[in-house]
Amino acid sequence: MVNIHEKIEKNTGLLIVMVIIAISFGALAEIFPLFYQKEMTTPVKGLKPYTALQLEGRDIYIREGCVGCHSQMIRPFRAETERYGHYSVAGESVWEHPFLWGSKRTGPDLARVGGRYSDEWHRVHLTNPRTVVPQSNMPSFPWLNENKLDGALTAKKMEVFRGFGVPYTDEDIAGAQAAVKGKTEMEALIAYLQSLGTALK
Ligand code: HEC
Repeated sequence: MVNIHEKIEKNTGLLIVMVIIAISFGALAEIFPLFYQKEMTTPVKGLKPYTALQLEGRDIYIREGCVGCHSQMIRPFRAETERYGHYSVAGESVWEHPFLWGSKRTGPDLARVGGRYSDEWHRVHLTNPRTVVPQSNMPSFPWLNENKLDGALTAKKMEVFRGFGVPYTDEDIAGAQAAVKGKTEMEALIAYLQSLGTALK
């Protein structure tokens, strides 16, 4: 009888392939069940889809690269929960496409920054962070005060999100352009920031 083990062990190429398959099974066994766990796929109670203005603000957050310096993921460690609040749960992110958890923390985590400061504080801070935090090395974003939204694509974006399962109504989509037209990018970004992490009670 041929010894299968001996065959595999003496053939490096085959051994590599088999090792990769074995390791992938381990990873799949860890990852795959998560797609089917209710806790992972159901929105937390109180989660609301982003309003048209918040959704535009989120796109500005992506455009300006905020995610390169700020995470939105509070890990379940005491040092983090005492500073930032309750750790992040999967049900808060089910409507995030793409998610903005990030991995770089040049600045603080923003997962629960909503409601922590006033709108005016954010406006002053984003226009020039040094005005309120003298030692800050965060860049200034003064153009957000001048750039105005025309809302031409807002309804389209909401339709795309509805395709991903975000429960936007026909009225939400019909009123999208009117809700953002003429607003500044600063107003949109602040509306987005103020919504972050507020769903979990
Ligand atoms: C180069 C890195 C960098 C980038 C890019 C950056 N930030 Fe920051 N941010 C920081 C640092 C550092 C701080 C801490 C000092 C301060 O408050 O200004 C901070 C602080 C903040 C705070 C206050 C958080 C708190 O809990 O005190 C908010 C809100 C914020 N940033 C939002 C943004 C937004 C929105 C953008 C994108 C438009 C952005 N940041 C881009 C580095 C950055």
